[in-house]
Amino acid sequence: MLPIIDIRVQALKERIRKIKKIVVVCSSKGGVGKSTAAYILSCILSKSKKIALCDFDFTGPSLHLLLDTNKTFTEENGIKLPEVSQNLFFLSIVFFTHDKPLALRGNNISNIILELFTIADFENIEILIIDTPPTTSDLILDILKYLENADFWVVSSNSLLSYHSVNNFVEVISQRTRNLELLILNKIFPDDPESFKIFEKLKSKFRRIISLPYINNIHGYYGKIKEVRSLDFIEQIEKDIVDFM
Ligand SMILES: Nc1ncnc2c1ncn2[C@@H]1O[C@H](COP(=O)(O)OP(=O)(O)O)[C@@H](O)[C@H]1O
Ligand SMILES: [Mg+2]
Repeated sequence: MLPIIDIRVQALKERIRKIKKIVVVCSSKGGVGKSTAAYILSCILSKSKKIALCDFDFTGPSLHLLLDTNKTFTEENGIKLPEVSQNLFFLSIVFFTHDKPLALRGNNISNIILELFTIADFENIEILIIDTPPTTSDLILDILKYLENADFWVVSSNSLLSYHSVNNFVEVISQRTRNLELLILNKIFPDDPESFKIFEKLKSKFRRIISLPYINNIHGYYGKIKEVRSLDFIEQIEKDIVDFM
């Protein structure tokens, strides 16, 4: 019997062929700051590179709120992503759902990934940054399958519960990829990360760690790319990730 071939997989590979780097921002936990980190890092990287920031949290998209945009795609050789700020392009399910709630089963998630990648035009995009929902399941497995060279930027808040959960998550994905590039430690609690033994274990699995400090009045920075870039900790983060680009 002939194997069944999904032509969208070929289309996806073709669409992403010229992209220099694909980053998956992920965690097993919700509310640890994945979307916030994806937003802040996109603000930094789009200073000098063409970035496509993709919201793969299909049932709970939030990047349109962080970017404070209701821009949508235009059609021309597939869908052309809106440029929400210079060099910063955006792709989200809200273009199609208009922010109405969506309930999905596992294979629907695979289909949406394939459809979006088949139709999205990533011409000239240098870095793809994918924000994900809290997961260890289908979505990450699909990403590992379709985006073989993706680098994983894992987010943990500085709480004991987050470290434990994220440590288990990392154990699972490290069996399938070697690209555990960055641990993003989001200091949204007063806890001292060094005081937890598990933190050392988690840290050792990554090429590098960066910290995001607690940002007062964070909502005031939504859609304010220039203001984000001028926060005092940004320069250090820029230095810490420059050699990954
Ligand atoms: N560094 C930070 N400083 C202040 N608030 C933060 C920070 N990181 C995240 N938050 C807040 O925590 C909440 C969860 O963040 P979010 O990025 O939506 O997490 P996730 O995408 O992991 O679910 C949001 O209300 C966000 O504004
Ligand atoms: Mg999120």
